[in-house]
Amino acid sequence: PIGLLDGRIIDLNEKIVEMEDRGYQFGDGVYEVTRVYNGKPFALKPHMDRLYRSLRELKIPAVYTFEELASFHERLIAESGYTDAAVYLQITRGVAPRAHAFPENMVPRLTMTIRPSKTNVELQTSGAKGAFVPDVRWLRCDIKSINLLGNLLAKQRGKETGAFEAVQIRDGIVTEGSSSNFFIVKDGVLWTHPVSNLILRGVTRTIIIDQLAPKLGLTVIEKGFDQAFALKAEETFVSGTNTEIMPLVRIDAATVGDGRPGPVTRKLIEAYNEFVI
Ligand code: PDD
Repeated sequence: PIGLLDGRIIDLNEKIVEMEDRGYQFGDGVYEVTRVYNGKPFALKPHMDRLYRSLRELKIPAVYTFEELASFHERLIAESGYTDAAVYLQITRGVAPRAHAFPENMVPRLTMTIRPSKTNVELQTSGAKGAFVPDVRWLRCDIKSINLLGNLLAKQRGKETGAFEAVQIRDGIVTEGSSSNFFIVKDGVLWTHPVSNLILRGVTRTIIIDQLAPKLGLTVIEKGFDQAFALKAEETFVSGTNTEIMPLVRIDAATVGDGRPGPVTRKLIEAYNEFVI
């Protein structure tokens, strides 16, 4: 497998992480995951825009232009030969003797990997299982930080009950999945948590709201709701770069709707598949 370090293609077996990289010691860094469809990066601009925002929020200087980041993606795709893949990009604050406060004159470090990835059509067709779990994360979930312990605890807890995705609850309100956003269809209307510090503003979420819902004539309500409200929905699904749109047909012991992916979710999946090409 191959990767990229500060603009140079590398073999992933190369030992490149330094002991005092702040990403390694503190989780002091940010990341993005972008899909490649038919050999082309998908929605690279909104992903890189969000990357720049995450960097700004953490006061990590941006040292690469969008054009440079785009060319790194192109090079990884070309070198790997993959047509359907996921690219992982991470920027840490850099390397310095361990101290909590941001050291001065830091040079951020960029690493990237590429792995094959494809749509899980089978699971999209049958529908997946979800599990409600407490949201134990910090209060800046809007930053795509490499600190993911809260997300990992959620995903693992869900996995232990056989769930595909864990759906997190904070103060009684459904926030988002452990690596996805959460939607419900209630009386034909699409609901999802509003943009705030409590969720990641998913690129897939934005595509659903701005592109797919209008095309399908769906009303979207960005407003918090509780677990009981979610379980009264006709349909529920999660969205994300890797997840794409995945129907949740059971959550914990409850069946959602008739236990099969509903018509609205199926139409959204179809519209999404057309959109990514
Ligand atoms: N996760 N919410 C969280 C907490 C996420 O980690 C993700 C993405 C999303 C969906 O965002 P987008 O639609 O932009 O992928 C929402 C990535 C894929 C990951 O951690 O692998």
